[in-house]
Amino acid sequence: MVQEILCYKYDMNNNLHNHRILLIISGGIAAYKSLDLIRRLREQGAAVRCVLTKGGEQFVTPLSVSALSEDKVYGDLWSLTDEAQMGHIRLSREADLVLVAPASANMIGKMAQGLADDLASTVLLATNKPVMIAPAMNVMMWQHAAVQANIKTLQQRGVHVLMPTSGVMACGEEGEGRMQEVADIIKAVTAHFAVPGPLSGLRALVTSGPTFEPIDPVRFIGNRSSGKQGHAIAAALQQQGAETILVTGPTVLPKPQGLKVIEVQTAREMLMACEAALPADIAVCAAAVGDFRVADIALQKIKKGAVPPTLELTENPDILAALTKAGNRRPRLVIGFAAETENLLQNANAKLLKKNCDWLVANEVGEGKGFDQGENTVTLLKRDGVGKTASTAWPQQSKDAIARQLVDEIAKAFTD
Ligand code: C5P
Repeated sequence: MVQEILCYKYDMNNNLHNHRILLIISGGIAAYKSLDLIRRLREQGAAVRCVLTKGGEQFVTPLSVSALSEDKVYGDLWSLTDEAQMGHIRLSREADLVLVAPASANMIGKMAQGLADDLASTVLLATNKPVMIAPAMNVMMWQHAAVQANIKTLQQRGVHVLMPTSGVMACGEEGEGRMQEVADIIKAVTAHFAVPGPLSGLRALVTSGPTFEPIDPVRFIGNRSSGKQGHAIAAALQQQGAETILVTGPTVLPKPQGLKVIEVQTAREMLMACEAALPADIAVCAAAVGDFRVADIALQKIKKGAVPPTLELTENPDILAALTKAGNRRPRLVIGFAAETENLLQNANAKLLKKNCDWLVANEVGEGKGFDQGENTVTLLKRDGVGKTASTAWPQQSKDAIARQLVDEIAKAFTD
């Protein structure tokens, strides 16, 4: 017998899903960070196409840029092949964002003056897309009046400048001029594409789907939850502007686009993933978490014997209750679900109080109701400050419609 190995798969793949970024790498030692930037942007689901200037080529090779972006690298304005296959106009049009990282003093100067003497500067002049730049240069260069004037000009024209940070530079001098860290550039790019909405600026955590608690390498204890309701809520939260993290047990559903998805198998993995996702402003626990797991998971497939095996079960952590007990990390609004087969309101109310959540979505499950159905009939229970509960029964509707209605209620709670 072995202890269960806790692991969960982080899938950050969706934050920049479907977004096309044209990354211009100009000359500067910070260009080495651009290689990591390409990887991280692609991890978030972005399609990255790169233009490497002659200066940039001195610091990173076209081969590594091409390998990481899994695309051709563009560099030569006059190359007939480039122009035939992908002219500079198309390069600038087929992007949702043009990102210059690092942006050298020379590149910034050319942009400010409207010069177009190579592919990168020509693309930047020809583009009708938003432009973001991450300057990187020596502190004296950065502080030079000419560079500062150019930066001001670019900002006035709507270019988003990711201001360089302070620190020791590759040249040994210290001060402002270091390119922002890759993680911060990713944050800025993600914020650029964030959907504006009533929940903008808020973080939401949603659990969804069943958990699978292993018995042996091939068997598990699971349940019939499809994840439809939780996934629909996560998508609706994201559509209303919340930065949303979906922690999901095994489902066959496609991943909702534009949000972080963390895939887990067991209740304990789900708890770990939820705790790691904090802080959050909103938590919606729609997952059907297994209450019990097998105490000792068999290392090998359990064989048939004269007597059927007995499984010793042990209790799983309660994720919803753990979130409400998270002290100052407790999300401001915690919403639980209660699937009941009888005495819906009475049981749901008891659960709301016991788990100390703010709202509870109660629904009847059983034959043809709830689990794995496209539609649901729910009652929303809300607890007020003095422990009183108000309930509203919603008409039967699709799980997508329930998700939208719930998220509208959430938006009202945060804007009231
Ligand atoms: O107690 P019961 O399982 O009916 O409670 C349902 C609610 O509690 C749901 O919101 C569910 O996601 C959550 N829950 C949990 N962790 C558990 C069991 C339930 O988060 N171990």
